[in-house]
Amino acid sequence: MSMIHRITNFWKINGATSSPKFIFRKPEDVFDYPAALEINKARLANLDTLGIAFRGKSVIDIGCGIGHLAGYFTAKNCPVLCVDGRKENIRILKSRYPQLPARVIDIERSSLRGLKKFDIVFCYGLLYHTENPALVLERMCKLCKDILLIETVICDYDKPLVRFEEETTAVNQSLTTLACRPTINFIRLKLEKSGFRYLYTPKILPDYPDFKFKFKNNLEFSDKEALHRKIFIAAKSKIRAKGIMPL
Ligand SMILES: C[S@@+](CC[C@H](N)C(=O)[O-])C[C@H]1O[C@@H](n2cnc3c(N)ncnc32)[C@H](O)[C@@H]1O
Repeated sequence: MSMIHRITNFWKINGATSSPKFIFRKPEDVFDYPAALEINKARLANLDTLGIAFRGKSVIDIGCGIGHLAGYFTAKNCPVLCVDGRKENIRILKSRYPQLPARVIDIERSSLRGLKKFDIVFCYGLLYHTENPALVLERMCKLCKDILLIETVICDYDKPLVRFEEETTAVNQSLTTLACRPTINFIRLKLEKSGFRYLYTPKILPDYPDFKFKFKNNLEFSDKEALHRKIFIAAKSKIRAKGIMPL
C-alpha cells in the first residue's frame, strides 16, 4: 500500500473517531484532501443516477463544509442556502463561492426561526457528527417541503439504536467532539415518526468503498478498509424516479 493510500485510509477511518495525533485543523486541508474530493465525485455522480427532478427546486445544504457539493444543485438552477456550524468553514466557502448564500447555523443548538421551508433538504456527511440525531432528523423534516436526502455513516446493527463516539476537533467533525453512529432502523423509525413514510435508497451505490460494505450485524461503523455509509431518500408522498428503490 502506498504512503498516500495509508494516509487516506487512516483519515477515512480515524478522521471520524478520536485520533489525537493526526488532526486536520484548516478547512482547506480537510475538504480538499484527495479522499474527500474522491468521495464527493462519487456522491455527485450518484445523485445523477437517481432520476429525481431537482431542477429549480429550493435546497438547503446542511453541514455544507466549504460548499463543495452545492454546485451540483446551482448547476440545475436551484436556489441553494448553505449552512454549517463552523464559521471558519463558511468563511472559506464565501471566499471560494461568493455567489452562494451561506450562514453559520448549528442545526442542533441554534434556533431555526426565520428559516423558511425548502423543497429539498440535502444533508451529506453531517448526521453522524451530531450528539442528538433524533433532534437533527426532526429539525430537518420540519424544514423540508418535499424530499430529504441524507448520507451518513451508520452503525451495522438491525435494531433501532444509536452508538456514541468521541471525535477529534477537526473542522469536518462534531462541533463538541461528541458524535453518534445511528443504525439504519433508528433513522428509518425517526423519519417515519416525523411523517416521512416513503423511504428509498439509490439502486446504484456511489462508486466509493464506504458504500459497499457487507452487513454483519456487529455494531461496527467501519472495517479495516472504510467507513460504512448509507444514503436515505425520504418523502411524505411517493417519489417516482428510476434510480431509487425502497429502503
Ligand atoms: C464531514 S463534514 C461534511 C461536509 C460536506 N457536507 C461534505 O459531505 O463534504 C461535516 C460538516 O458538518 C458540520 N457540522 C458538524 N456539526 C454540525 C451542526 N451541529 N450543525 C451544523 N453543521 C455541523 C461540520 O462543521 C462539517 O463542516
